[in-house]
Amino acid sequence: MSTRVSILVGTMTGTAELVASEVQAALEATGREVDVRLMDDLGADAFAEDAVYLICTSTYGNGDVPDNAQAFFSALESERPDLHEVRYGLISLGDRTYKATFCQGGLRFDALLTELGAKRIGDALLHDAGSGTLPEDVAAEWSVAWAQGIENGRNVAA
Ligand SMILES: Cc1cc2nc3c(=O)[nH]c(=O)nc-3n(C[C@H](O)[C@H](O)[C@H](O)COP(=O)(O)O)c2cc1C
Repeated sequence: MSTRVSILVGTMTGTAELVASEVQAALEATGREVDVRLMDDLGADAFAEDAVYLICTSTYGNGDVPDNAQAFFSALESERPDLHEVRYGLISLGDRTYKATFCQGGLRFDALLTELGAKRIGDALLHDAGSGTLPEDVAAEWSVAWAQGIENGRNVAA
């Protein structure tokens, strides 16, 4: 049976939630079990399930994670759980208008999870809101290729 994917969503105005929902539909269509959780009530123990995680978050403020992800991010930073057994993927939403902080919300999660021992599967998807493409469409297509790396492990970053 294929590994379950748990999508953790950081969002301010709902775009990342829509993206997560389209990714869920795309992955479920391939026969995979998927759940979506907003980051609002997550703590440092959020990565304890038998699943592969997909961080799906936007960027706000000065390259910060969205409000609903702040407490979760801080808990990971302060409690520093051992995530050596954890594998994850990353969808980061941003806008290149914010040159210095493009997609930093997701990239901050990427750096922190790596620091805590987690392994990223494949390359991150960085979406530019000014690109003229819909993030939910781009992410749904990206996610099917990304998920192929879960079982065969060929694209786990070192
Ligand atoms: C006030 C504000 C600040 C933002 N700051 C950044 C930023 O620093 N870097 C970036 O790449 N995108 C930034 N963005 C763009 C958002 O991350 C992007 O529009 C995203 O798709 C919003 O997703 P959400 O609806 O899930 O929150 C900002 C948008 C707003 C409205």
